[in-house]
Amino acid sequence: MNVLLIGSGGREHAIAWKLAQSKDLDKLYIAPGNPGTAQCGENIPIGVNDIDKLRDFALQNNVGLVVVGPEDPLAGGIVDVFEDAGIKAFGPGGKAAQLEADKAFAKQLMRSSCVSTAEARTFDRFSDAKAYIASRDEAVVIKAAGLAKGKGVFVCDDPADGILAAEQIMCDKIFGSAGDVIIVEDKLLGEEASILAFVDGRNIYVMESSQDHKPIGDGDTGPNTGGMGAYSPAPIVTESLMNQITREILVPIVDGMNRNGTPYKGVLYAGLMITAGGPRVLEFNVRFGDPETQPILMRLKSDLLEVLLAVCDSTLDKIHLKWDPRPAVCVVMSAGGYPGDYGKGHKITGIKEAEQLGDVVVFHAGTKQENGDVVTNGGRVLGVTALGGTITAAQEKAYKAVGKIKFEGAYYRRDIADKALKGAVS
Ligand code: AMP
Ligand code: GLY
Repeated sequence: MNVLLIGSGGREHAIAWKLAQSKDLDKLYIAPGNPGTAQCGENIPIGVNDIDKLRDFALQNNVGLVVVGPEDPLAGGIVDVFEDAGIKAFGPGGKAAQLEADKAFAKQLMRSSCVSTAEARTFDRFSDAKAYIASRDEAVVIKAAGLAKGKGVFVCDDPADGILAAEQIMCDKIFGSAGDVIIVEDKLLGEEASILAFVDGRNIYVMESSQDHKPIGDGDTGPNTGGMGAYSPAPIVTESLMNQITREILVPIVDGMNRNGTPYKGVLYAGLMITAGGPRVLEFNVRFGDPETQPILMRLKSDLLEVLLAVCDSTLDKIHLKWDPRPAVCVVMSAGGYPGDYGKGHKITGIKEAEQLGDVVVFHAGTKQENGDVVTNGGRVLGVTALGGTITAAQEKAYKAVGKIKFEGAYYRRDIADKALKGAVS
């Protein structure tokens, strides 16, 4: 079967790397891809939101399955367009993608499905939001309701900062129309975990747990980024907690989506805070996480293409996934200055040497090929991912691999997976 994968980040390199190992894969196309995905298939220069061109390409090249990486085209209804053209597409339809693209919709669904989340109120007028935030003498979290490339959330310990954030989002429109509506919610305390599940409309298959590291600085300091590293499994998610999350969060949400007339297919990603009172939902994403996908897929032993097709065909109940019991750790190397302004075009060396350590894959994100060299071309540049017998061993190997890779201004957190070690037997 020919497959078209849409996207160009580290997540898409990980998906492409795994799909390339599938026994049923004939040809893999990636649009637009990056130098990493080019090692797994053929990159096609079509942008992720150029939906009509992508459909025409798929029709002309006998594509049997389309796999959509990022949220933007999902929210834009790309899966509906492919299905209308008679091509299977992995991911939710445009209406179901509102679960990520509209946080007010997600909150409403959680409320009507009795899923635990932070107490929240939704506002479409700044004056109302301001009065509400001012009336509270405690930390608040301000969220743009629409898609804001992972940057639309402000955790404000002081209500005055909350009012400022609301003003920037609603009046200064720093996220454009994604900030027409905001959510003001209570700040939750605890440890975060990401739970990703395959959902085929009826059946739910929960993947191994993982944990992201959102802030740029060690010790979770500084502004949020797309994610500076991840590990899998997350020891905080014990088997009984995983069962609770499935029972109390995933099942009611999938049922709720069906009741709502927006049945869910694809990856359902629950971003959770594990509080003293149990797991609470911070957000839902309608796609694989980045960088969580890199360690998760390195641990997946089963054929990914088979699973993605089972989701499209609603036969997930026939599938059993095998996982490598060894933990995996992914350290993101970013461009100096990210998540603010950063330079591009710096030559990257040492990727091969890093991979020669064994059980290491260097997933490309913001890179490009230039005059025979791989150079930096984005904020998050590489996701250096390693498997190890223990979390400590995986962490040591990932950092050893990072040590082999050089580019001007390279930055990375030094504490990825330290959190896992706190509670783990390592
Ligand atoms: P989100 O995109 O909604 O997952 O938010 C991004 C990040 O903001 C999360 O990963 C958390 O670190 C933080 N965050 C979001 N909502 C809350 C909340 N209610 N309480 C504390 N932190 C939060
Ligand atoms: N790692 C966070 C995300 O994919 O949204």
